[in-house]
Amino acid sequence: MTGLVVAMDGPSGSGKSSASRGVARALGLRYLDTGAMYRAITWWMLQQRVDLGDAEAIAARAADPVLLIGTDPDAPAVAVDGVDVAEPIRGSEVTGAVSAVSAVPQVRARLVAEQRAIIGAGDIVVEGRDIGTVVAPDARVKLYLTASAEARAQRRTAELAGTTVEAQQAAMARRDTLDSTRKAAPLAKAPDAVELDTTALNLDEVIAEILRLVKERT
Ligand code: DC
Repeated sequence: MTGLVVAMDGPSGSGKSSASRGVARALGLRYLDTGAMYRAITWWMLQQRVDLGDAEAIAARAADPVLLIGTDPDAPAVAVDGVDVAEPIRGSEVTGAVSAVSAVPQVRARLVAEQRAIIGAGDIVVEGRDIGTVVAPDARVKLYLTASAEARAQRRTAELAGTTVEAQQAAMARRDTLDSTRKAAPLAKAPDAVELDTTALNLDEVIAEILRLVKERT
């Protein structure tokens, strides 16, 4: 198992985060949530009142925030300039702004370099949008998780208070379009990734299927 990298890509609500953490726990691997890194930088840009409609303004500040991200699947920690941001990065303000920040090539270049440094020698499950295509194209196991738009919206609604399935479905469709049509490293399935539709599967079934695939490849 030494050196194993499991790349988990897919849109939000596809079940990536829970499945990635479950697989990491089951195999005693580290876990990296790259979406949390883009969210943390976005939180910082909002704090600094950077104009998020101005890609050059974002690029000019991309190197400034000091980011710390943990790799424990049981306690995924994330801090910016020494502030624990694990909670605020899940809020609607950051969620609504993160696609604009993550589309900026300077932000991506910085974070991809940090992600590769963390991945290092491997033994890690990495989730995101461009892991199998850009960050870790040599990963031994690549998954691309999908689910129907309705199932994804239902899962996200169950996690959040004060929202409806319809509102979530509209917000997710907007974010998916932005994430898949941007120029820099858009959300995409790597040609050699295994696509797993999680619509009709529960979490244990998704994890079991991924563990089966890992066993087959190792
Ligand atoms: O997985 P998430 O919803 O926490 O990701 C938040 C945003 O970050 C997502 O809308 C797109 C961006 N992202 C990205 O561009 N590349 C990644 N590897 C991970 C996330």
